[in-house]
Amino acid sequence: MEKKSRVLFFISSLLALLAGSAIAKSTIEPCSTSDSCLALLGYSLYADLKVAEVAALFQVDSVALLAANSIDFSLPDVDNRILPAGLFLRVPIACSCSGGIRRSVSTRYTLRPADTLASVATSVFSGLTSTDQIRDVNGIQDPSALDAGSTLVVPLPCVCFNSTDNFLPAVYLSYVVLKGDSVAAIAARYATTATDIMNVNSMGDPSIHPGDILAIPLPACTSAFQQFASDSGLLVANGSYAITAGHCIQCSCGPGNLNLYCTPSSLAVSCSSMQCGNSNLIIGNFTSQQTNSGCSVTSCDYGGFVNGSIFTS
Ligand SMILES: *[C@@H]1O[C@H](CO)[C@@H](O)[C@H](O)[C@H]1NC(C)=O
Ligand SMILES: *[C@@H]1O[C@H](CO)[C@@H](O)[C@H](O)[C@H]1NC(C)=O
Ligand SMILES: *[C@@H]1O[C@H](CO)[C@@H](O)[C@H](O)[C@H]1NC(C)=O
Ligand SMILES: *[C@@H]1O[C@H](CO)[C@@H](O)[C@H](O)[C@H]1NC(C)=O
Repeated sequence: MEKKSRVLFFISSLLALLAGSAIAKSTIEPCSTSDSCLALLGYSLYADLKVAEVAALFQVDSVALLAANSIDFSLPDVDNRILPAGLFLRVPIACSCSGGIRRSVSTRYTLRPADTLASVATSVFSGLTSTDQIRDVNGIQDPSALDAGSTLVVPLPCVCFNSTDNFLPAVYLSYVVLKGDSVAAIAARYATTATDIMNVNSMGDPSIHPGDILAIPLPACTSAFQQFASDSGLLVANGSYAITAGHCIQCSCGPGNLNLYCTPSSLAVSCSSMQCGNSNLIIGNFTSQQTNSGCSVTSCDYGGFVNGSIFTS
């Protein structure tokens, strides 16, 4: 029997609204259908899997997946690299707006012979979805009669809250509570506070159960790219990387500060020029000079990917 997972996202508690000094966030986040934002799914591997297999499970880019976890993505043949069972990954996904409320992303999964809805929900997707959700979304009448080879839509939870937490830039991680977890321990692990986690999830008290899904705000670096850039609004969680501009540029965030730092990526791809105009500096380079009025720093920064070209500033 599968334990029905309680999804705290969708429980709004009056108590939390009355108690906290901060305003509890609600999952009802106005958005328009063209909006999507970056969010992370906390995923534990159910078996040894190739990078490409994990990427395919969530329909994400292999390099982006490794970069989000600060795993070296510059080695050749990253797709065939084996990741060990039990490894916890942050999967970067575009969280889309559904019905004016930004709340979910879905992926497609092709059933294998021994799969059951419970094994897909709890094992393959490590509790990020439930048997009931898969059944409802796919209109399955008889869960005991699944056809191997047929494809299921798998709904997965995500939130964005306009990419801020108490007005500071943040990326939200959908985290499945494990046996032995407490809100205080999760808060310590992700450098946030128990109060913040309770506010974000509209919880009246800090009790949690294995299988609950919490949204955890992770501090992030924001970008100030060209408004017309395809990567305008890029947000990178502390302690991780993003790959952009057709794999030409890598941008890292933290750990020392929350200023986004972009350099040419170490991937073997062909890229347009990364040199700043009127200088011999390339993106990521800076020089400092002692002047009468103090220290003057000249830097060559990445400015966004516009119409297939790399902008510098
Ligand atoms: C998020 O942003 C949208 C549009 O930018 C705005 O309409 C909405 O009120 C914001 N939501 C919150 C919770 O601030
Ligand atoms: C970023 O993460 C590092 C640990 O990886 C931590 O020491 C630092 O305090 C974090 N920065 C912020 C602003 O949370
Ligand atoms: C400029 O950046 C490139 C690549 O990051 C590096 O190899 C080079 O040494 C840097 N040059 C200067 C002058 O800092
Ligand atoms: C990008 O290209 C389109 C069509 O080629 C053009 O209309 C637009 O102005 C370009 N945008 C920028 C920011 O250069």
